[in-house]
Amino acid sequence: MRILGIETSCDETAVAVVDDGSRVVAEAVWSSAEVQARYGGVVPEVAAREHVASVIPALETALGATGPPTGIDGVAVTRGPGLLGALLVGVTAAKALALAWDIPVVGVHHLEAHLYANALTEPLRFPALGLVVSGGHTALYRWNGHGLLQKIGETVDDAAGEALDKGARLLGLGYPGGPAIERAGAEISEPRFRLPVPRRAPERPYDFSFSGLKTALSRLAREHPEAHNELARALEEAVVAQLVARTREALQATGLRRLYLAGGVSANRRLRERLGAIAADLGVEVVAPAVRYSTDNGAMVAAAGYHRLAAGERLSLGEGPRPVYPLGE
Ligand code: KG4
Ligand code: ZN
Repeated sequence: MRILGIETSCDETAVAVVDDGSRVVAEAVWSSAEVQARYGGVVPEVAAREHVASVIPALETALGATGPPTGIDGVAVTRGPGLLGALLVGVTAAKALALAWDIPVVGVHHLEAHLYANALTEPLRFPALGLVVSGGHTALYRWNGHGLLQKIGETVDDAAGEALDKGARLLGLGYPGGPAIERAGAEISEPRFRLPVPRRAPERPYDFSFSGLKTALSRLAREHPEAHNELARALEEAVVAQLVARTREALQATGLRRLYLAGGVSANRRLRERLGAIAADLGVEVVAPAVRYSTDNGAMVAAAGYHRLAAGERLSLGEGPRPVYPLGE
């Protein structure tokens, strides 16, 4: 089954054609990150306007600009969570194409789509632990099967990517922050500074907290204006250490033997290395998407949509985006 996937929840206008939820046939990603960088972060109205300008060119690129493509069996689109104006562009395009081509359309959850990016690496196997770390979300899921996600922990304040983006802005490293922080700290193996480790509620052992890092970082940045690369490395270390510690504990407590990484922050090299090391230690297999499928893309949406379409799910023409969209509660 050949699915067209469309993603417009944040600052990437991304489309892809994927066969059987696992093989990418064509793809295009138009990022508005450069435009957003002028504002120091994602401005919702700017993101929506960029999607309006990019969605047709992205579709034309991925579909070869040859007019109505044959052989596409369904359309999958990110329905939420995300920015309403941004989501609306993708959902409207998806419904219009499905109507014009007389094929079904299905809405997918953005975080579920991030997890399905792993289906582009290998056939998914369940049960597994899923770590989703993106610019807007940070959560651990017990993944029991297609459509069967159970959230076991999440951030109580900022997302991991948000902490990196805010930290990068504070250190004058630009947007998006994650890659900038990674580059700035690349040469530093042991950071000279330590950022505080948050307390956590005993009854919520797998929750995360990243908002305290910003306050500590801004104080250190004022005291050590010459040491911004060191501070970038310290921030990366604090974020990675917390993600690794919680994931390790969740793996031990659940006894799950497989870990799927997902979301933009999972592109981080140190995070991948450290999770690989603890997994080897615990006898757990770690699976991660190729780096370009860690950040927002259309292929993950098509992969997730494939399973929803196969299960008979459809988005009706009367249904719109869901900017707030709980998963696995
Ligand atoms: O999944 P994603 O592309 O979009 C959302 O759903 O939010 O994630 C974007 C986030 C941003 O916060 C960005 O700074 C972070 O992922 N990111 C990284 C890296 N590449 C992107 N963080 C750490 N290391 C990276 N290499
Ligand atoms: Zn994302």
